[in-house]
Amino acid sequence: MQEWYKNYVNQIEAYLGGFFQAKVAWAPLYEAMRYSLLSGGKRIRPVLALEFCRVVGGAPDQALPFAAAVEMIHTYSLIHDDLPAMDDDDLRRGRPTCHIQYGEGLAILAGDALQSAAFRAALAADLPEDIRCRAGLILARAAGEDGMVAGQVLDLEGETRPLSEAELSQVHLHKTAALIQAACTMGVVAGGGSEAQYSAAIRFARALGTAFQIRDDILDAVGDEATLGKPIGSDAASGKTTFVTLYGIERAEAMLTEQTEAAKTALSGAFTDTERLLWLADWLLGREY
Ligand code: IPE
Ligand code: IPE
Ligand code: MG
Ligand code: MG
Ligand code: MG
Repeated sequence: MQEWYKNYVNQIEAYLGGFFQAKVAWAPLYEAMRYSLLSGGKRIRPVLALEFCRVVGGAPDQALPFAAAVEMIHTYSLIHDDLPAMDDDDLRRGRPTCHIQYGEGLAILAGDALQSAAFRAALAADLPEDIRCRAGLILARAAGEDGMVAGQVLDLEGETRPLSEAELSQVHLHKTAALIQAACTMGVVAGGGSEAQYSAAIRFARALGTAFQIRDDILDAVGDEATLGKPIGSDAASGKTTFVTLYGIERAEAMLTEQTEAAKTALSGAFTDTERLLWLADWLLGREY
């Protein structure tokens, strides 16, 4: 992993560590929220927010509140995704999932509270009001009924009947690419980027997000549980339609490469210094966790 990425992660984790520390009577809620939020993870969404802020000419730390907001939504989505009513998984980032550790009720509530906290973090950012509002709207659209949640609904449907190729692509665009797109565009907004840069960030994120979920599907089939930090074979156990069930590993890998190249191409011409983003796209293509 490159040094700049590690530095961003350190900055993001220090910032996230400042949340939910107060001594309150409902301390178990705060504990469950911090358990999931501060349990590691690659932090690619917040890293993308900081880096897109930088490539449009802003200081990366301007985007920290937005980065934290996306990571909170992501963490909430993982807590709920792991619940027995959804993917029913007991391992996440190498540790027991939130509901295994704290019980289902508290896990549901920790997810709920992380979602609200995300909007508080974004809307209370020390940035001009129009920028904060724009970021809040981006996040709401990406997270909600036409974004990540929509993808999760279709994903569940894919356990009851085989999805078509077009439907599966919609699953990936919604459940995964939507939040990645929010991260990138909120970074552009924080840094004061142009409309052309905003559009390029969307194209990049849709391709990168699709690639990211294809790799996730492949790792679920052939990854190593200890390295991945989450269960292998979870998709097969629930009979889910994935890129692996629909296309097989080999074709899924070819599509992963194709989408990664599309993401990289989307960057050219729009930003001056894309070296880090190009590296990131290649790193995600070959990731083992
Ligand atoms: C897992 O996301 C859920 C998907 C959208 C595939 P990540 O692979 O980014 O999970 P962490 O945050 O690194 O644990
Ligand atoms: C999850 O997709 C996408 C979310 C919105 C959480 P997966 O169900 O494949 O993610 P993992 O494999 O559990 O991390
Ligand atoms: Mg899932
Ligand atoms: Mg899952
Ligand atoms: Mg998965």
